[in-house]
Amino acid sequence: MRGGEREPVITIDGPAGAGKSTAARLLAERLGYRLLDTGAMYRALALGVLRAGLPPDDSPELRRHLDDVEVALGDDRVYLNGRDVTGEIRSPEVGEATSRLTMLAPVRDKVTPLQRALAAGGGVVLEGRDTGTVVCPGAELKFFLDASLEARTRRRHEELAGRGAVLPIETVREEIVRRDAQDRGRALAPLRPASDAITIDTSGLTAAQVVEVMLRAVERLCCTRS
Ligand code: DC
Repeated sequence: MRGGEREPVITIDGPAGAGKSTAARLLAERLGYRLLDTGAMYRALALGVLRAGLPPDDSPELRRHLDDVEVALGDDRVYLNGRDVTGEIRSPEVGEATSRLTMLAPVRDKVTPLQRALAAGGGVVLEGRDTGTVVCPGAELKFFLDASLEARTRRRHEELAGRGAVLPIETVREEIVRRDAQDRGRALAPLRPASDAITIDTSGLTAAQVVEVMLRAVERLCCTRS
């Protein structure tokens, strides 16, 4: 990159099980960029709501809670009110609360500006559902990762098994279908590809192959930006 020029902002969106997290991490590593896991910020916030004993619905209590809560990202860790909660945000209970809370305007209004501020300096890879459409619509490079329901179910099933949660494959598939409908169908920041996103079908690709496709797009971008 030429002197003084800001490094690009790269967004990666897509449904659960499309391979976003691994690809985003590898891409950020290869480029030496910062990785912003936007879902982790929502999950940390959801954990705070659960701990406060609040239902994940819009209410004056929830809004007051959001005014006081602090969510931050740093070095692959996520912090809630200054405490590292990285290990606690991946439970199904937190996932369910997150899915409901991310439908609410006060929640998105709280988190989106934080994500924009973190991305402002460039040299970042953002991973989520709305990073190319809402958080950083001006990003230099946008990817949308998708995969067949079958491939996504298989990946998620393996991921859960790796964490010691062996569930029937049918249960995992139903969960994915339900989450998809929620993420794509919500009124605010629904999951969809940005009009200028590069869509990659990851069904038959390894994470390394996905990253190679992405790196070629980064090379094209950096050669054409002059
Ligand atoms: O990617 P994940 O499973 O950690 O995301 C958790 C939840 O947050 C999931 O329901 C989608 C939602 N989410 C969102 O609405 N917007 C984002 N930018 C990232 C995640």
